[in-house]
Amino acid sequence: DPCVKTLFIGKKIIYLPTCHSTNDIAAELVRKENLSEGTLVITDSQTAGRGQRGASWVTSQGQNFTFSLILRPTFLAPGEQFLLSQAISLGVRDFVSSITEDIQIKWPNDLYINDFKLGGILIESTWQGARMAHAVVGIGLNINQTHFESSIGSVTKGTPQRATSLRLETGQCFELAAQLPHLLQALEHTYLRLRGGRYEAIRNDYQSALLGYGEKRLFRGKDGRIFEGTVTGVTALGKLCIRHADGVQLEYDIKEVEWLWP
Ligand code: BTN
Repeated sequence: DPCVKTLFIGKKIIYLPTCHSTNDIAAELVRKENLSEGTLVITDSQTAGRGQRGASWVTSQGQNFTFSLILRPTFLAPGEQFLLSQAISLGVRDFVSSITEDIQIKWPNDLYINDFKLGGILIESTWQGARMAHAVVGIGLNINQTHFESSIGSVTKGTPQRATSLRLETGQCFELAAQLPHLLQALEHTYLRLRGGRYEAIRNDYQSALLGYGEKRLFRGKDGRIFEGTVTGVTALGKLCIRHADGVQLEYDIKEVEWLWP
């Protein structure tokens, strides 16, 4: 699409018909070569796709977006990785919302449509002193797969997650090559906002896209106790704020709270 222009994201694209994991390949390239920021490693199928927290990521051959983007967010300090994951999830959200409005972000950075998982993000970074050196931003987004079951097309580790795809949601089949520039453009747009230091604006947009925002839902705390609470937002560094039934608002990091939905 000649109308879609990016400055640096996707200027260099490394396409592999199949590979173990684009995140692993990208990390290897970062170690060996001085790759320019915005380089993309993209594949049709992975034999060892990885998700967050040790989960695996299984994608239907050639049906979905499966790629890793190499960035150099040297403006980020330790503890600030959430800022990047927030910007990237917003970028993916913006792309999907041009196709369907039902898209939401499940904290910290999963993409959901009507409580079904559409995609996930796995960011792995390297550091140099007190600055991030490289970030490998892995994105898996279900586009044309026709399975609802997560054993094909999403994350699993014991518990299958309910998955969906843009095709299942809209009834349309999408041409991946035609959609890719739009996704890259959306990613570049939010990344440039981040680089420009527009942290508050990004956080506001992220919060308004948050699944369960302002709604009462069930959670399980670290101590195993189940409680009802309302998601009231995220902190600047990415903790989830939940207001408990007694009115007390607490902040949780990823290891401290489990969502009992969807
Ligand atoms: C998650 O939801 O847990 C994150 C899933 C991230 C999957 C993508 S697919 C491209 C890249 N390569 C990987 O091995 N994982 C990421």
